[in-house]
Amino acid sequence: MCGIVGYFGKRKASEILVDGLRRLEYRGYDSAGVACLHDGSIAVVKNPGKIKELRQKVSDTATLTMTESRMGIGHTRWATHGPPTEKNAHPHLDASGHFAMVHNGIIENYKDIRKGLASEGIECISDTDSEVLVQLISFLYKDNLEDAVSEALQKIKGTYGIVVMSDHEPGKLVVARCGSPIVIGLGKNETVIASDASAIIPHTRDAVYLEDYDMAVITEDGMEMCNLQRAPVSREVTEMDWDTGAAEKGEYEHFMLKEMFEQPQSIRNAIRGRLDYDMGTAVLSGLDFSARDAAQINRVLVVGCGTSMHAGMVGEYAIEEMAGVNAEVEQAAEFRYRNPLITPNDLVVAISQSGETADTLAAVREAKQKGAIVAGLCNVVGSTIARETGRGVYLHAGPEIGVASTKAFTCQVSVMLMMALKIARTRRMPRHDGIEFARWIQKLPDLVERVLAQNKAIKAVAQKYAKADNAFFIGRGYLFPVALEGALKLKEISYVHAEGYHAAELKHGPIALLEECTPVIALLNNIPGKDKTLGNAEECKARKAPVIAVVSEGDEGSADGFDDMIVIPDCPPAIAPVPTVVALQLLSYHIAAARGCEIDQPRNLAKSVTVE
Ligand code: G6P
Repeated sequence: MCGIVGYFGKRKASEILVDGLRRLEYRGYDSAGVACLHDGSIAVVKNPGKIKELRQKVSDTATLTMTESRMGIGHTRWATHGPPTEKNAHPHLDASGHFAMVHNGIIENYKDIRKGLASEGIECISDTDSEVLVQLISFLYKDNLEDAVSEALQKIKGTYGIVVMSDHEPGKLVVARCGSPIVIGLGKNETVIASDASAIIPHTRDAVYLEDYDMAVITEDGMEMCNLQRAPVSREVTEMDWDTGAAEKGEYEHFMLKEMFEQPQSIRNAIRGRLDYDMGTAVLSGLDFSARDAAQINRVLVVGCGTSMHAGMVGEYAIEEMAGVNAEVEQAAEFRYRNPLITPNDLVVAISQSGETADTLAAVREAKQKGAIVAGLCNVVGSTIARETGRGVYLHAGPEIGVASTKAFTCQVSVMLMMALKIARTRRMPRHDGIEFARWIQKLPDLVERVLAQNKAIKAVAQKYAKADNAFFIGRGYLFPVALEGALKLKEISYVHAEGYHAAELKHGPIALLEECTPVIALLNNIPGKDKTLGNAEECKARKAPVIAVVSEGDEGSADGFDDMIVIPDCPPAIAPVPTVVALQLLSYHIAAARGCEIDQPRNLAKSVTVE
């Protein structure tokens, strides 16, 4: 979603801002802009469209303010209020042109504020909710920018991450946060502000994460922090550990392709040091509960959105099957509003790659408020969910830039399997079964490697079906969530209408849609229920739909009579989702590539959805 960059230092601000925005592109956006302050004046360049066009426009703007400035702010906008036009792009200026601001989040009472401003003769020109804030700051300004910002923020309802500057006080950036993440990187003689670490890591590793209601004032003398009431606060400086190379595409054509091929390594990182092969259990110290605590857990509720929710579904199956503990998965957005029944022995696990998804965060807060034990499974270190849950397990997948999640999913499933193992071993799972399962988790990178080795063959299958405008993915048991995830991947990056269905459910309606040009991807791996799914695939074939059979190695005969085959290494049911999903990721990728889609930044999508 929207991205923020701010710079204060000794280098050419416009270049650092545009480069930072390029690093935030993956979050999803449809317009962008920068504002620079130099010699008492502000220059703004905005553009609906891609960063490379903005970069061109900035370099064409040869004013001294743009070329000489050593401080400024930038933004990528994912349209919510008003279309992606130049007028609606950030940074927004107040009516006098003396204040510039970038904003992430939503100002819920913007209509009231806009009315109030209009009654004072101040008209907003954009359709956005954001503009009212900079107009309000300007209206409230007397002689101190942070005073005006804190006063204005106390009048708004909603969420914000903002950076503001004014030519009345050149040499000062004011930053604030409530609900939308802000990281401040403290470099040598410079400060880089961003809504996400990837824009900061090329410059410095030392970072301060703002908390809700924090304000930071950045000047030549350094950074001072306070809350909205202007009482001083202090926040720890943490070291960010992602290497910058991980956020570059390297030899790969797309981040998504690179990230799919990174999976053996990212899974290795996710499981490293976390399996005890002697005791046949998992050591997840971040969960911060003893075997005795684990034995008290009455129910596990997993909350998440999109791909993360699908990973949670695999976890649900594993926890129930292996540990005999009641487990459920719920869409995070639903959890918050349906007043769920929670007891103190319920473990609520929030899964989120970004750790910033608004609905998942809201579910975490609801679960905490209701007294559950809450744990986070996040990839982004220091993200809001990771911090607010206080306990949990990091995925260690490294930065995931492609909007369609791949390596985060397989790490999420790997971690969920370890969590299931840990809980199971405090219950009914005997040690030797635990050891065997831990050994299978250890084999995951190798299983994924073997699927990736079939990239060429999967590409050939993809090219055969690339023109189809509809597709179905069917599976059951542990492969049902994989069918959902396979369909989600295909929709996200190729814009093919794809549905993931329980194999048995297809005939309760969707089968009416099958025809010769509607491929069905049937997950026929050797797991309980395979024979029934085989029957369902036959039903599709009988309706002339081409069937791509995904089968286990050694059981290729199950693909007989179907149109195409993808072979997955044979493994236990709980392990199968990981290698199987990798095959479906590759299939989607090659279909999208054949259709000429913009794979890393699909239209309308955002990497991290920070609004409800
Ligand atoms: C967005 C992304 C999805 C992701 C979902 C949840 O919709 O495009 O890829 O699965 O958010 O994100 P999270 O960061 O919470 O895992």
